[in-house]
Amino acid sequence: MKAWVIEGFGGVEKLRLSDVPEPAAAEGEVVVDVKMAGVNPVDRSTLSGRFDWIRPPFVTGAEFAGVISSVGAGVRGLSAGTRVLVNPKLFCGSCYYCLRGQESACLSNERMSRAPHIIGVSRQGGWRQKAEVPAMNILPIPEGLPTGEACTLGVDGATAWHLVKRSRPKPGEFVLVVGSTGGVGMFAVQIAKMYGCEVAAVVGSSEHAERLKKLGADHAINRNGQKVVEEVRRLTNNRGADVVLDPLGSATFEMSSSSLAPLGRYATCGTLTGTKAELSLLHLYSMQVEYIGSTTFSRADLSDALNAVARRKLIPQIDSKFRFDELPAAMRRLDEHGRFGKVLVELA
Ligand SMILES: NC(=O)c1ccc[n+]([C@@H]2O[C@H](COP(=O)([O-])OP(=O)(O)OC[C@H]3O[C@@H](n4cnc5c(N)ncnc54)[C@H](OP(=O)(O)O)[C@@H]3O)[C@@H](O)[C@H]2O)c1
Ligand SMILES: [Zn+2]
Repeated sequence: MKAWVIEGFGGVEKLRLSDVPEPAAAEGEVVVDVKMAGVNPVDRSTLSGRFDWIRPPFVTGAEFAGVISSVGAGVRGLSAGTRVLVNPKLFCGSCYYCLRGQESACLSNERMSRAPHIIGVSRQGGWRQKAEVPAMNILPIPEGLPTGEACTLGVDGATAWHLVKRSRPKPGEFVLVVGSTGGVGMFAVQIAKMYGCEVAAVVGSSEHAERLKKLGADHAINRNGQKVVEEVRRLTNNRGADVVLDPLGSATFEMSSSSLAPLGRYATCGTLTGTKAELSLLHLYSMQVEYIGSTTFSRADLSDALNAVARRKLIPQIDSKFRFDELPAAMRRLDEHGRFGKVLVELA
């Protein structure tokens, strides 16, 4: 079978479409015929060598969905032919956090402060025609829901679900979403609306402003024409945003921080533009603001997001679909500004 193998660290030139042996379903695992895979910033990080304990050759791909083709010993309730979404979050099921349904903090992640414990990073992922997956990480896709839409939740949709929940939004609060046209952001806008919030989306063009409003955003602030902090003040009667959801890191931290209202919450799940930021402790205590970290999600988050999409309360936005043999082009699309939503790769 074919797989996109990372042959060394770097850019897409280090990916090679290769023949690899088909996986077998070990005890407690299933094999999934991959039908759709997402490309995500985390895959780019894996390819670049950020997780330098990974030894090439290695197959990444954290977000994928498909059809079960075989079932290992001891697996109950799953059978060949079932359409499934893979939950990439690896968890032990028995630590302090897993027992409380908080798999995102699972203690089995030895590198918790440096890397996510997910399929595609801690073990081989879905950029191949078949992938072996722990049965605990499988969710059947509700009938009628296209595999591509389900796939968008595997990394971004469920992460956004968890991120918004961690920021504790209340009905009527003002939520600013930074990076709102990205994989995480376009879900975050819609989920914040589900909480009954007034949502402002930071966008890069007037075309994206219109699309975000159609998705439910109350306001769109064009970062290329408007001063975001001033616009937030204007829209909130000079109070600021109760919640800022910003997965972009260094480049936008000061803007996001300055947009906060007294008692406001900044929540992040990523550092797309860099990991360092300067936090003023004076601002922290005098404004009584909170800085909240969030990463991955629980099984419940993924299941809730999947149900919300099946019930059309949450609509995934798919920017583009590429064929499997075009995966490097999909990665290049991920690098481009001006996308709207997810980039997917479809397998025959
Ligand atoms: N911890 C986790 O579990 C987890 C899970 C998923 C994602 N993440 C992280 O979350 C971050 C976002 O992921 P994503 O999939 O949403 O990325 P993405 O699809 O590439 O989206 C990036 C978004 O940021 C905007 N943007 C880029 N540079 C910007 C800048 N300098 N100022 C303002 N906006 C800017 C882009 O808009 P334009 O196209 O208009 O520039 C786009 O809307 C990444 O760092 C990713 O690793 C973390
Ligand atoms: Zn655990």
